[in-house]
Amino acid sequence: MKENVILIGFMGVGKTSLGKLLASKLGRGFVDLDEKIEHDAGMSIPQIFETYGEKYFRELEKNAVKEVSTRRNIVIATGGGTVKDEENLQLLKNSGVIICLTTEPEEIYRRTARQGERPVLDGGGSERLETIKKLLAEREKFYKQADYQIDTTDWSPLQIVNNICEKFKLQR
Ligand code: S3P
Repeated sequence: MKENVILIGFMGVGKTSLGKLLASKLGRGFVDLDEKIEHDAGMSIPQIFETYGEKYFRELEKNAVKEVSTRRNIVIATGGGTVKDEENLQLLKNSGVIICLTTEPEEIYRRTARQGERPVLDGGGSERLETIKKLLAEREKFYKQADYQIDTTDWSPLQIVNNICEKFKLQR
C-alpha cells in the first residue's frame, strides 16, 4: 500500500516545485494539498484564514488529507502545518514514503518574506524570523518522523529529485 511519495516540511522549503518536478520525472500524478483546499473551498488560503480562521482551515486540510491518502501512485506536496496533526501524519505514512525537505531559517525567511501569502507568518508581528524559528522548533518532532530528510539549501531541484529517486529506487 506504500505507493505515494509525500513531501513534508516547513513553508518555503520547495515542496510544491520539487513535487511537480518529481511527479513529471516519474510520470505520476501530482497533488498539492494547499491547491486542492483552495480549489475545493473556492477561495485562497489567506481568504480562508481571514474569513473563517485557522481552525476551519485545519478541518479543510484534514478532509483533503483523508481524500488524497486513498489515492495511489501519486506525488503529494503537503502544507507546512499538515503533519502537526497526528492523524494526518498517520494517514500519509500509511499511504507512502514521507520525505522531509529542510533549509535554513534565514533562507525560509527570504523565501516567505512577501506579506499576504502565509497567514501563519503574517500574524507573528514584525519579528518574522523569530516566528519562523519558534514554529520550526515546535514542529521539529513531526518533521523528524519522515522516512528521509534532505537539506535542500545547496542543491539544485534536479539534484534533489535524483537523490530521492535513487534513495527509494523510484523510476518511471
Ligand atoms: C501553513 C503552510 C502553508 C499553508 C497554510 C498554513 C503552515 O503551506 O498550508 O498557509 O501552517 O505552515 P506551504 O508550506 O505550502 O506554504
